[in-house]
Amino acid sequence: PEDVLMDKRRRGGIEAAEVVESGMDVGLGTGSTTAWAIAAIGWKLESGELEDIRGVATSLQSHDLARELDIPLTDVDEFESLDVAIDGADQWDPENPHVVKGGGASHAREKLIDEMADRLVVATDDEKQSTPLSHPVPLSVLPESRNVAQSWVKEQGGDPQLRYAEKKDGPLFTANGNLIVDCDFGEIDDIEGRATDLARIPGAQEHGLFVDVVDDVIYGADDGVEHVEF
Ligand code: A5P
Repeated sequence: PEDVLMDKRRRGGIEAAEVVESGMDVGLGTGSTTAWAIAAIGWKLESGELEDIRGVATSLQSHDLARELDIPLTDVDEFESLDVAIDGADQWDPENPHVVKGGGASHAREKLIDEMADRLVVATDDEKQSTPLSHPVPLSVLPESRNVAQSWVKEQGGDPQLRYAEKKDGPLFTANGNLIVDCDFGEIDDIEGRATDLARIPGAQEHGLFVDVVDDVIYGADDGVEHVEF
């Protein structure tokens, strides 16, 4: 089952790279699916099928992978907009243009880059779909606000869990030095209201609800690759 899933992600990621055209400024997302999209962009540059791409990475991991593949990279603040971004999701909704992100703790930078893109293509697999979204929402918070943030999440009807680092006896810190509180609200029927409430929490830096921003979902399924357009 694990390699079936990885195969779906590989197919979704590689297909998503088809949206990239020569001359584009491209946001490069984070995660195992997007890694395949980045790889495919690298192969196309190497073969000459693509030219003159400028990549902007959403995380250290995607930055390092793009570098290994000789994809020209530039800083996010060189741009006010990007032609396209390809990014993964922790959960996506086949009926609505929203996703939950932040499983890799990179959602703040991902949101910046995904929102800047004229077109956001989510590369994913069919096992992560849900209507409505119900995945716990990652919320990055200033370290000193974590107790206040958790009590606000409870008041909003959620179950907050401080995220711990794997293989380390302590909490996980983001690339910007913040902590992550994963907030389980069950099914999220009013996503705009939920996003507004999360943003109001004192000390909250960014939440993982990406609302009304997805243009396409390209996902690996059992018998190939499927495409949803919003
Ligand atoms: C990173 O913060 C996340 O939003 C990732 O994009 C997400 O976890 C997708 O990863 P996979 O493609 O590995 O599922």
